[in-house]
Amino acid sequence: MRCYMAPLEGITGYVYRNAFHRHFGGIDRYFTPFLTNRGLNHRERQDILPAHNQGMEVIPQILTNQADLFLELGEILAGYGYGEVNLNLGCPSGTVASKGRGSGFLARLPELERFLDEIFRRSPLPISIKTRIGFSSPEEWSEIFALLERYPMTELIIHPRVREDFYRNTPRREAYAYAYHRAKQPLCYNGDLFTPGDLADICAQFPNTGRVMLGRGLIANPWLALEMAGNPPVRSRDTLLEFCQEILEGYRAQMSGERPVLFHLKELWSYLSNLFEEEAVAKPLKRLRKANGLAEYQQAAEDLIAQCPFRAEGSEAWHKQR
Ligand SMILES: Cc1cc2nc3c(=O)[nH]c(=O)nc-3n(C[C@H](O)[C@H](O)[C@H](O)COP(=O)(O)O)c2cc1C
Repeated sequence: MRCYMAPLEGITGYVYRNAFHRHFGGIDRYFTPFLTNRGLNHRERQDILPAHNQGMEVIPQILTNQADLFLELGEILAGYGYGEVNLNLGCPSGTVASKGRGSGFLARLPELERFLDEIFRRSPLPISIKTRIGFSSPEEWSEIFALLERYPMTELIIHPRVREDFYRNTPRREAYAYAYHRAKQPLCYNGDLFTPGDLADICAQFPNTGRVMLGRGLIANPWLALEMAGNPPVRSRDTLLEFCQEILEGYRAQMSGERPVLFHLKELWSYLSNLFEEEAVAKPLKRLRKANGLAEYQQAAEDLIAQCPFRAEGSEAWHKQR
């Protein structure tokens, strides 16, 4: 089974990816959070610089509905030596979708068709696509799939929710099944894989699944990919602490001032806290969330990691709704 790290904007930037790769691993491909600015802005360029992505297979992701912008970013990425680029057809955020980008593009099929014709004709790099299965209703999927199918993409990553689901409801397996039984291109399943049991379940229903993408489950439990592959290392508190420390140092070097660093670390902990027993973690987590500075944060994180029992493996709960 090939296992990918999902792009999570605000979390899986290069600092996180490097720390993750050093301390955990089990990931075959890392997808960057979306790039969307003409010429790349400073943050985007830092994220894809080869010096910041050594030793990992990294696939940059582009979010746009303008073919010329997609192609321009493709040229820049090819210049940096990347071998593939991914198109985002899933982002549900209001500002993105209302402008017909991300999942919003799925509601404008004639426009999407013109865009795909153009980028597949002229892209300097092979293209993969990450998509939801519709904008408002799963009924849209057969038409969307029929369109996507026509293009020679390297793989189609399916998060089987519609935009209106955001991250609620359960993934719509019948939509994935529809593609599974018809697709000519390789498929990758994405959505709500939080435990090795969840993966086993998908594989039981779709035995030819050869690729999965892990998002929130992997951020909550960085050992997840290793545990899914069988024979994982014992969960080590030292490893977790070093991982968190490395991310903190990386953010400090990347961002100016303590506030944005703290903000991003607290966001990370809203996922990571799921690794621990719920009752035990509540108080230490509250303390961490209230930290006003990095010294206070660091002490809270150290105490939490040292004191809270891990949940039993395979029983991670998922609470956060985006
Ligand atoms: C905070 C956050 C940021 C995300 N950013 C991106 C992104 O930049 N590009 C993208 O394709 N998907 C993005 N996603 C969607 C995830 O990649 C993934 O498709 C989704 O979370 C479902 O997988 P999961 O259930 O394993 O988390 C984001 C999701 C979250 C929660």
